[in-house]
Amino acid sequence: MKITTKIAAAALALAFTAGMSYAATAAENWENSCASCHGADGKAQGKQGRKLKIRDYTDAKVQAELKDEEMVKAILDGVKVDGKERMKAFGEEYSEAEAKDLVAYIRGLKA
Ligand code: HEC
Repeated sequence: MKITTKIAAAALALAFTAGMSYAATAAENWENSCASCHGADGKAQGKQGRKLKIRDYTDAKVQAELKDEEMVKAILDGVKVDGKERMKAFGEEYSEAEAKDLVAYIRGLKA
């Protein structure tokens, strides 16, 4: 009985430590928050992507048009066109560092 308790406590401590040090990677954030519109591959060929006419981020030309700072700003502040929201702001969910990691991830989607 005693030993079992000890093992359980150790397992719990381990799970807790693992949880504390866990930070989602940019790939996970992309999958969870962005892929629904931009597509896991960045091509935005899903229903939402086509409806919203989102550009293909695997296209080198599109990538060249995007500036890193503008992308970070778009992620944190959202995208509005003519006062209408095209993409919501993710500033509440993600830090600037996480937004920068996401930009690096998007850069990596280039074909
Ligand atoms: C509700 C759908 C939707 C979601 C979810 C979404 N986006 Fe967007 N995003 C858009 C639309 C629409 C645009 C504007 C059209 C375009 O640029 O092709 C856009 C534009 C962008 C741009 C380009 C901004 C520019 O300068 O033109 C970046 C970068 C971006 N999104 C990143 C992300 C990231 C990272 C996430 C996840 C944290 C995300 N988006 C989630 C719809 C979405």
